[in-house]
Amino acid sequence: MGTHVILIGFMGAGKTTVGRCLSKKTSWSLFDTDQLIEEQAGMSISRIFEIRGEEEFRRLETETIRYLMDKEEDWILSAGGGMPLRQENRILLRSAGQVVYLKVHPETVLCRLRGDTTRPLLAGGNVRKKVEELLGWRGPIYEEAAHVTVRADDRSPEDIAEEIMDNILTKNG
Ligand code: S3P
Repeated sequence: MGTHVILIGFMGAGKTTVGRCLSKKTSWSLFDTDQLIEEQAGMSISRIFEIRGEEEFRRLETETIRYLMDKEEDWILSAGGGMPLRQENRILLRSAGQVVYLKVHPETVLCRLRGDTTRPLLAGGNVRKKVEELLGWRGPIYEEAAHVTVRADDRSPEDIAEEIMDNILTKNG
């Protein structure tokens, strides 16, 4: 089996940006569950939530991780923020590779996602309250799902990618 790095964490934690850095450093393929799902469904994540509902979206996430697990090559995955919420997905992710939690404060999320319209779970109403609530109960789940937790506030993606590489190289001897 190839080396697989799975980046998990809240919306706006920087999973895709850090994933790009890691991919550049290693030349491993980069996948993004949201992007794979959008391509497969032929519609945006917001539209999938609207037409098919969150439950169906979560089912598509599980399908996507199963699809990636069949790939022999080395890869990095930027997982959608809700991917680790299903216990089934946590088990799959941990068996697929090294799971890294990019941990951020609500303030970082609010700052990075200001004006964003692509996250249905944060659309409308009091966004600060939503972020604080969601991050509050999801935090321990992300910790449980991850092999490693990396702080991702106020740091460059390169710096974070460096720390992840050090970690993986240590683990792989
Ligand atoms: C979600 C995170 C989003 C996307 C969907 C739901 C979540 O991905 O999968 O909007 O439940 O946290 P990002 O974490 O890439 O924003």
